Formats: sequence, C-alpha cells, structure tokens
Amino acid sequence: MSDNLPRRQVLRTAGALGLGAAAAGALSSTADASPDRVAAMNAQHGHGKLEIRKDPFGTTPEGVGVDVYTFTNGRTTISMLTWGATIQRVETPDRRGRVENISLGFDNLPDYAALSPYFGATVGRYGNRIAKGKFTLDGHTYQIPVNNGENALHGGTIGFDKKVWKAKVVKTDKVVGVAFTYVSPDGEMGFPGELTSTVTYTLDKQDNLRIDYLATVAGKPTVLNLTNHVYFNLAGEGTGSIDGHVLELKAAKYTPVDAGLIPTGELAPVAGTPFDFNTPTAIGKRIRDDHPQLVIGRGYDHNFVLSGKPDHDGLRFAARFWEPTEGRTVTVHTSQPGAQFYSGNFLDGTFQGIGNKSYRQGDAFAFETQHFPDSPDHPTFPSTVLRPGQTFTSTTIYTFGTK
Ligand code: GLA
Repeated sequence: MSDNLPRRQVLRTAGALGLGAAAAGALSSTADASPDRVAAMNAQHGHGKLEIRKDPFGTTPEGVGVDVYTFTNGRTTISMLTWGATIQRVETPDRRGRVENISLGFDNLPDYAALSPYFGATVGRYGNRIAKGKFTLDGHTYQIPVNNGENALHGGTIGFDKKVWKAKVVKTDKVVGVAFTYVSPDGEMGFPGELTSTVTYTLDKQDNLRIDYLATVAGKPTVLNLTNHVYFNLAGEGTGSIDGHVLELKAAKYTPVDAGLIPTGELAPVAGTPFDFNTPTAIGKRIRDDHPQLVIGRGYDHNFVLSGKPDHDGLRFAARFWEPTEGRTVTVHTSQPGAQFYSGNFLDGTFQGIGNKSYRQGDAFAFETQHFPDSPDHPTFPSTVLRPGQTFTSTTIYTFGTK
C-alpha cells in the first residue's frame, strides 16, 4: 500500500496508485479507445476487482492526521478524505473512455481548511440554512453561530465538514468504500444532544456511489439535516462553465426564498418558470432570465420538492445531469424529500483547485439531497427532529455513466 511517489503523483490515477492490474489497465489504456472497445472493456471491467488503499493526506494544526482513501471498481475511482468525510476526486471515463476527475477539490489540507466552499464535504449537523441561526424545540430556544449574513449555513461556523471523521474500510464482493463516523458533543455549535453520525460511501461494480446516512442522538432531542456537497463539472474539473450541461429534475414544486435564501414557506409550482427541469433542459438556457428568484440566488440556489417515483432500490429518481460533448452523466436517486440545486454562483475565481485552474461562477453544480432548508422554523415542512431512541437513516446514490 505504500510507495515513495510525491503526493501529487500518487493521487494522479488508479494506474499510478498501484491499484492492481485490472484497475490500472482499465483506467490507463482507455485513452484512445474506440467507443465499441470501451463498451466491451467497461463490460469486462464492470466486473473488475474492487480495491481500496489508504495514504496520509496531511495533518491539522492540532496535530491530527488526515488520510485519503482511494477506492475503485476498475472504471470509476473515488478519493475520500477523513477531513469532513470529503469526496476529493471522482475519476470516471467519458463516452470515448477518457478518464477525468469531475469533482472540484484541492490537493492539500490547508486549502480545504481555509478556502473550501464545502467541496465534496459531508455537511452537518444541519445542512443548508437556519434563519438567524435560531430555532425552538420542545420549548427550548437554541442559537447556532451565524456564518452566512444573519443566518446559519451548513451547521454553523465549524460544521461537520471541518471535522476529522473516523474511517472504517467496507469491502464485500459487491462494494468497496469507507464508513465515516463523527460524534458531535451535546451543545456543539449550539445544537442539543450528542449526535453520532455514520455516513457510509460505497462504490459497486455498476458505478453506483451509494451514500448511507445513519444517526442517533443521546441526552436530548435535536434537529439534523445531513447531506454531501460534492460539486461536479462532467466535462472535467476546471474546464469551464456548466451552462451546457443538460438537467432533468423531477420536481413539481420548489421552495422560493427571501433575500437571505431562507424559504418563505411557500411550495411554488415550477410549471411555466425557469425552475421547471422536468423536461431535460440546458442549465444555462434560462439562468439569466429576469425571474426574481434567479436574481436573489444569482442563478439556481434553491431547494426542489422531489416528486419522482421510487424506482431504484426503493429510492426515487431525483435528477440526471448530462454533459453532451464528452457524454458523461450523473444520475441521482434518493430517499430524501428535497434537493438543493446550486449552480456554483459564489465561485468567483479567487482560488485554484486541484488541477491548478481557477473556479469561476457557474463552473460546477452541486445537488445536495436533503430536508428542506430552515425546516426547524417551518412546522409545515417534513420534520428534521431526531429524538433519543430513534434512528435517522437516508440514502442517496450517484450513478456515473455516459450517453
Ligand atoms: C449551498 C448554499 C449556497 C452556497 C454553497 C456553498 O449550496 O445553498 O448558497 O453557500 O452551499 O458556497
């Protein structure tokens, strides 16, 4: 599992990673392959060997070691950090078999700690916003430190994305991945109750990246909203705008927001608006329309009320993104009631990512499956309360493919 290559080189590809003949062959020999040969190879390596390795990634200022786990099915290779249980890289072939990293991130820990707008992170205790950081539960009022104007975003100033999670390798004959666990003490970031969260990321031989969330609380009831904040550009990280990506999003309604991106409480129909992606539509087609919600969000930064039918392991189809030039797709299924579709509006070119390219506005999208934002302050929204003795579970699957 160890070698003496510099870290950048080590992280390059499954071939360099020494992940074994099947993985290295599948990933490195696809470069100039014809579509037919790739399809044949994909079929072959789709049943390829599942492999995983662990390498040191960095050390926090407090002296805690952070590891990177890299797992592959011979075609798709995922790298994840124990920092924030973060998806660092997703390397997957395009329709001609060319493998690129399609996920935004950094190659070093200090950049994650200082700059990251939640790239690939597991977000909690409460993903998305809580108005003024305040909510009342069982007659007690709780205050979360605000970090987004007057509101709390993604768990407050130091959310789960900035914690080092414990990692345990998961490997069966069907899947490979990592189970990450973080215990959040009672009162951390103002939230009540000691919350134990285990988030298990596994890759199967069909390119399904499955995320299983499980949480229990001790001592007091709490609220929670766990998600992952991976950003994708399906043409490859750092290659420019996602305006041309085509999105199909199964939602009849969305939750309009005020100027602070807090839901007004209304569930508004998408029909006849730039928020209707029930028919596949390029993301950039209407993003500059003068719809007031697009002005508030500087683009799409809204929670959609998912309305697809369960059709995949009991999970509902939520969305499919397709990049027509290279042909990559990512399809999302989830048990969650909502998803925040964010068109990378706040990326402003101020830093460079893992491939040394600046990320500018609209260079990536995130699709954060979740409960609705600010649910603790909206009794009409599906509840985000978790009580001692209860177990919270949810599942989201990202499926990588080509079309
Ligand atoms: C979420 C929010 C956005 C933005 C990003 C992180 O998607 O809804 O407004 O804050 O996180 O930059």
